[in-house]
Amino acid sequence: MGQFAAVMRLAELPLGSMRACMVGGRELVICHTRAGVFALDNICTHAHARLSEGRLRATRLTCPLHGTSFDIRDGRVLTPPAAVPLPTHAVRVVDGAIEVAVGPPTA
Ligand code: FES
Repeated sequence: MGQFAAVMRLAELPLGSMRACMVGGRELVICHTRAGVFALDNICTHAHARLSEGRLRATRLTCPLHGTSFDIRDGRVLTPPAAVPLPTHAVRVVDGAIEVAVGPPTA
């Protein structure tokens, strides 16, 4: 796991919303839900689609292209066609700033 880096203010990300950002050359989506704040890769594991352009319902993130949904808490696939889990990254909130530590790249 890498170092934590501030990506945005928690106040800029209303409950129930998500937003894309770049960390260390990697595109992530940050999701703010009642279950907490989560960071995942923003590119779907099925094909090249941005999950930040999909839908977030509670802890379910749905891809805009073919409808795969992932559980943002652990990245697991809830609905096909994707078969590979979405990489997740460590998140913490420090003084109102969302910080993310990006994990190693996955193949
Ligand atoms: S690109 Fe996401 S389900 Fe196909």
